[in-house]
Amino acid sequence: MKPQYCEQLDAISNSHRSQCKGKPGVNAATIDPATFRQVLGSYPTGVCVISALDEQNNPAGMVVGTFTSVSLDPPMVGFLPDKSSTSWPKIEKAGRFCVNVLGSDQQQVCRQVAGKGPDKFEGVEYAISDNDLPIVANSIACIECTIHSVTDAGDHWFVLGNVLCLETTRDDDPMLFYRGRYGGFDETL
Ligand SMILES: Cc1cc2nc3c(=O)[nH]c(=O)nc-3n(C[C@H](O)[C@H](O)[C@H](O)COP(=O)(O)O)c2cc1C
Repeated sequence: MKPQYCEQLDAISNSHRSQCKGKPGVNAATIDPATFRQVLGSYPTGVCVISALDEQNNPAGMVVGTFTSVSLDPPMVGFLPDKSSTSWPKIEKAGRFCVNVLGSDQQQVCRQVAGKGPDKFEGVEYAISDNDLPIVANSIACIECTIHSVTDAGDHWFVLGNVLCLETTRDDDPMLFYRGRYGGFDETL
C-alpha cells in the first residue's frame, strides 16, 4: 500500500498535469493574463518605493513589488518597471535610484506613490541624500544605486543597479503584498 503522502503527491501532480495538458513548455499564447496574475499573485513580495530626482529636481517615484537582491560581488540589486510607467523614464534619466523598503505601517505612503496623481510625494516626508536621491522618511531600509543596465523583459524592463550605499533604518515589520492584500510579517512557524 502506498503511504498517504505518495497519494497526495499523485493527486497534486495529476491535477497539475491536467492544467498543463496540451501546453508543452512555455507557450505564451495559451496562458491567459488572469491566470498568470492569479498564480503569480500567490508569491508574496515586499513593497518598495523607487525614488529619484527628475530634471526639475522634484522627487519622482513608483511603488514596486519586483525589487530583488541580485549580486553580492559586485553588490547589485534589481527591479522591473512596467513599460507603461510614466515615472520610470524620469528615474532612468536621473541615472540613479533609491530603493526605500516600506514598513507595514506605511500604507499611506504606498497608496500615494502608487497613485497616478500629479504630485506623488504630496504629504510624503523625505530628505535628499548626498547622492542626490530622495530618501523616504521611516522606510525600514534604503539602498542607493546607480543604473547599471536596463534590459528588455516583455512588457517590463529589467533594471539592474550598482549599490552605492545602504542601511537599515529601523527594526520594524516590512510591508508585504500577497494576493492583492497588504500585511505585515508574523513569525508563527
Ligand atoms: C504593491 C504594489 C506593487 C507594484 N509593483 C510594481 C512593479 O514591480 N513594477 C511596476 O512597474 N509597477 C508596480 N506597481 C504599480 C506602480 O507602483 C504604480 O501604480 C505606477 O508606477 C503608477 O504609475 P506611474 O509609473 O505612471 O507613475 C505596483 C503597485 C503596488 C501597489
